[in-house]
Amino acid sequence: KNKSLDNLRSPVVCVLGHVDTGKTKILDKLRRTHVQDGEAGGITQQIGATNVPIDAIKEAAKFVKGFTELAVRVPGLLLIDTPGHESFSNLRSRGSSVCDIAILVVDIMHGLEPQTLESIKLLKDKNTPFIVALNKIDRIYDWQPNAKRDVRDDVKGQSKLAMNEFTKRTNEIIVQFAEQSLNVALFYKNPDPNEYMSMVPTSAATGEGMGNLMALIVEYSQSMLTKRLMYSNELQATVLEVKAIPGLGTTIDIILVNGALREGDTLILAGTDGPIVTQIRSLLTPQPMKELRVKNTYIEYKEIKGAIGVKVAAKDLEKAIAGLNCAVAYQPDEVEICRAEVAQE
Ligand code: GTP
Ligand code: MG
Ligand code: NA
Repeated sequence: KNKSLDNLRSPVVCVLGHVDTGKTKILDKLRRTHVQDGEAGGITQQIGATNVPIDAIKEAAKFVKGFTELAVRVPGLLLIDTPGHESFSNLRSRGSSVCDIAILVVDIMHGLEPQTLESIKLLKDKNTPFIVALNKIDRIYDWQPNAKRDVRDDVKGQSKLAMNEFTKRTNEIIVQFAEQSLNVALFYKNPDPNEYMSMVPTSAATGEGMGNLMALIVEYSQSMLTKRLMYSNELQATVLEVKAIPGLGTTIDIILVNGALREGDTLILAGTDGPIVTQIRSLLTPQPMKELRVKNTYIEYKEIKGAIGVKVAAKDLEKAIAGLNCAVAYQPDEVEICRAEVAQE
């Protein structure tokens, strides 16, 4: 009805992986931000969200062969950062449950680790496709980084010594994935994207492979997930985080996947004492390429459409529960239906 192939929404991309594999640093490199430097102990403890416009992806991917010729059909990417520390499995589960595709970050020096395996299980359970970032390639002995080229040429240009170690570690990781019944291959050797998930060598320290990673996400999303990405008017929105912001009171960060939210809308969401019914006071996003979980100057909207990460300010959000869907009552008589929907979650 309202859906069309000419109207795709941004894919929601969840970044998952073991602690300290470089998930936040990869996003920092892309955004040109320093979020990771400000984290207590260098550990991510919340889910993040970043709205990335397509122009920023094109800029990041300008050295990627073939990408400038590709007809890009998605308006951008909504990137969700998650914590890798073992104690935050609920947040990994929450992040992965809203996403269309994931970036699974593996430290090439460490291979698959306990929370990599946990992440794989989440992805398998939801049948979510993923791209592997084989991160920290700069740590390989004798590696000579060259971020200003397609990463496949960067890899090819390495010394024999560096190349041998890269190949050995990559092959070990391929075997570790096979032990999890998953076929993976370096993206430039992938024989069939229906059967093999692609791996991209990256370094969040030097920027190598970042463009290729983004290009692959865009290509895979718009070719393999087209139907899923057709924008729908039907509201699909999940509360990611509940937090107090000085000057705004208690706010909720929402991943708005489909549909629109408007200032003044009657929002219904789950709370610890039962469903909360409230009016949206303001709809805020950070600037493009800024992290929603970091306090920023916000852009205010009268109306906003998915897919986007948005902060909602409203009364009575103190008891809101994160991780669940919310609903909007467009007519007064819909409030009870929405309450029942939300209570069922
Ligand atoms: P959690 O969110 O806590 O799970 O960690 P994370 O996966 O987000 O990793 P983070 O971005 O915090 O990076 C962990 C450490 O690895 C930091 O000291 C980074 O500077 C470093 N690091 C990340 N990526 C790279 C890389 O590609 N090369 C090198 N040499 N260091 C990296
Ligand atoms: Mg992190
Ligand atoms: Na970390």
